[in-house]
Amino acid sequence: MPTIRPAQHADIPAITEIYNEAGVGTTASYALEPVSVADRRAWFERLSAGNFPVLVVEEEGIATGFASYGPFRHLGGYAHTVEHSVYIGSGYRAAGLGRMLMNALIDIARGNGVHAMVGVIDGGNAQSIAFHEKLGFEVSGRLPQVGRKFDRWLDVVFVTLVFS
Ligand SMILES: CC(C)(COP(=O)(O)OP(=O)(O)OC[C@H]1O[C@@H](n2cnc3c(N)ncnc32)[C@H](O)[C@@H]1OP(=O)(O)O)[C@@H](O)C(=O)NCCC(=O)NCCS
Repeated sequence: MPTIRPAQHADIPAITEIYNEAGVGTTASYALEPVSVADRRAWFERLSAGNFPVLVVEEEGIATGFASYGPFRHLGGYAHTVEHSVYIGSGYRAAGLGRMLMNALIDIARGNGVHAMVGVIDGGNAQSIAFHEKLGFEVSGRLPQVGRKFDRWLDVVFVTLVFS
C-alpha cells in the first residue's frame, strides 16, 4: 500500500531523480538544466525553514513521487497564497498516487490557514491540467509565450483552488 509522509533528507536523491526526469526533461518544469542533489537539498531546507510541506509517496521503501508548496509571490499581500508542485516518477503514473499526494497537501494547506493554492502548468501539459481539474482546481488564466524551452515559446496556465 502506498503511504504519504513528510519527506526526509534521505529522500532527496529520489526527489532529485524524479524532478529531473518528470520536470527538467520535459516542459512540466521550465528549469533548463538538470538539478543536483545539493540543489534539491537547499530547496528542501528553504521550504522546511519556512514551515512549508514537502511530502513523498512511498511504496515498499521507494519514494515514487513528491508534492510541495511554497510562497506564490513574496510581497506581504500574497501571504495567504501558495504555489505547489507535484511529480510522480514515470513508471508510477495514473495509479492514483498524484491524487493521494495532492489530497494530503490540500489538507495541510487548509489546516495551515492557506486561502488559495496556485498551480503554474505548461499550457501543453493537458494531463496535468485535467488532473488538477479532477481535484477541484479551476483554470484561471493563460499567459501566452511567457516561457521558452526546447526552442519553442510556451504558454503557462494558472490553476487555482480557493478555500472558503
Ligand atoms: C500529473 C501527475 C502529477 C498526475 O499524477 P498521477 O498519479 O499520474 O494521477 P492520478 O492517477 O492520481 O490521477 C488522478 C486523476 O487525474 C486524472 N488524470 C491523470 N492523468 C490524466 C490524463 N493524462 N488525462 C486525463 N486525466 C488524467 C485521472 O483520470 C484521475 O481521475 P480519476 O481518479 O477520476 O480517474 C503525474 O502524471 C505526473 O507527475 N506527470 C508528469 C509531471 C507533471 O506533469 N507534473 C505536474 C507539473 S504541473
